[in-house]
Amino acid sequence: MVIKSDIPRLAVFPQTAEVNNKGNLAIGGCDTVALAKEYGTPLYVFDETDLRSRCREYKTEFGKRYPKVIIAYSPKAFTAKAMLKLVAEEGLDLDIVTSGEMSIARAAGFPMERIHFPGNNKSFDELNMAMKYHIGHIVVDNLQELDMLIKIAGRKKVKILIRLNPGVDPHTHKYNTTGIADSKFGLPRGDWDEAVRTALLAKNLGVDGFHFHLGSGLFEVEPYLNAIDAVLKYAAELKKKYNFEIRTLSIGGGIGVQYLVGKVPPPVAYFAEAIAKKITGRCRELKLTPPMLIVEPGRKIAARAGMTLYTVGVIKEIPGIRTYVSTDGGISDNIRYAMYGEFARQEAVIANRVSARNTNKYTIYGKLCESGDVLIYDIMLPKLKAGDILAVSGSGAYSIPMQNNYNSMCRPAIVFVKDGKARLIRRRETVEDLMQRDLD
Ligand code: LLP
Repeated sequence: MVIKSDIPRLAVFPQTAEVNNKGNLAIGGCDTVALAKEYGTPLYVFDETDLRSRCREYKTEFGKRYPKVIIAYSPKAFTAKAMLKLVAEEGLDLDIVTSGEMSIARAAGFPMERIHFPGNNKSFDELNMAMKYHIGHIVVDNLQELDMLIKIAGRKKVKILIRLNPGVDPHTHKYNTTGIADSKFGLPRGDWDEAVRTALLAKNLGVDGFHFHLGSGLFEVEPYLNAIDAVLKYAAELKKKYNFEIRTLSIGGGIGVQYLVGKVPPPVAYFAEAIAKKITGRCRELKLTPPMLIVEPGRKIAARAGMTLYTVGVIKEIPGIRTYVSTDGGISDNIRYAMYGEFARQEAVIANRVSARNTNKYTIYGKLCESGDVLIYDIMLPKLKAGDILAVSGSGAYSIPMQNNYNSMCRPAIVFVKDGKARLIRRRETVEDLMQRDLD
């Protein structure tokens, strides 16, 4: 019998990953080779137990250290009606970025008052829609948006947070860095005073507090602590100046995930401990009432619960250069490696021979017409043959929302697995779907 710890890579697969008595990878009690056969490949598989336990981990770890906390899932990491229903059941709020996400949340029956809406270029229609559905907070990103919002709101009263760019480097990939001075997100330092003054004077805005988001994939807590410090100091100045009390502070998302066996970020509890201590301590020193804390995880909830199954096709060995392994997917279902390089490196195992020894070095490609169509560079795997099922871990966050139809690839199906049962939550796209918007 094979135990999970014999295969180190299984540590980065969904929590219920195991090797079954056929020697195949099983998730949620379902044989992944059987799933590949039933639903076809590429196929995204999500472990429902893993998803739910990540939601609970956030609620528990922040909840026991800080009295007032809202965990708002960021569906940009992975949106599907079934996912939003699960998140609602787990008692999380949502942090959305477009009216598209708002519409899907509504269709999934998500309570609108539990939605918070940042976004650096909201349209007139999007702001109107947010007001119509009475969402929890509109997170104002810039002075133009503030003006537009005051005009649109008319006599309605709108609850807002103001997104401040704190100018803090989170030490992550530059595309995932959002809170440094050179960024399109949030109010630059020079605009803070004008935004606050304007918002406080507007009778139709209720300023609840502030928001920041530093970036995604953070392994360090210090950037959060520095940003909290900057924002609370500013809140204390505003209290003196305007008698304004900060009631809500959103620290965005961003906590990093373990994608690789040897690269382990600190646990959520570590971040929660330091962040709670910082807010409580600074509020005491600055004589502020500790605000409601909003945390907006996306990656940390979804990334590790999801994995992708591919069928191995052509294997091309170019002696002395490289062995190219082509799968039936590619950058159409996961563009992250092509965009972010090693920052987005993932692990893989052969689902139909999980315990075989890793003897050969391969680069895993897709079938798209692009030499950058890489899923994993230089990975050691057992000797592969056509028809093997390759399971790639850590694809639950940002792979699905960043899919595309290059080369008229049809986007894969998604199944949720739990207690030996698989549930199709999104069917595979068809060529007819691809042509649906074309007019003759
Ligand atoms: N809140 C705001 C305002 C955000 O912009 C984001 C992510 C989050 C929360 C969630 O951050 P998380 O907990 O997932 O790190 N496409 C990139 C990731 C972009 C993240 C954008 N904003 C990737 O594939 O790595």
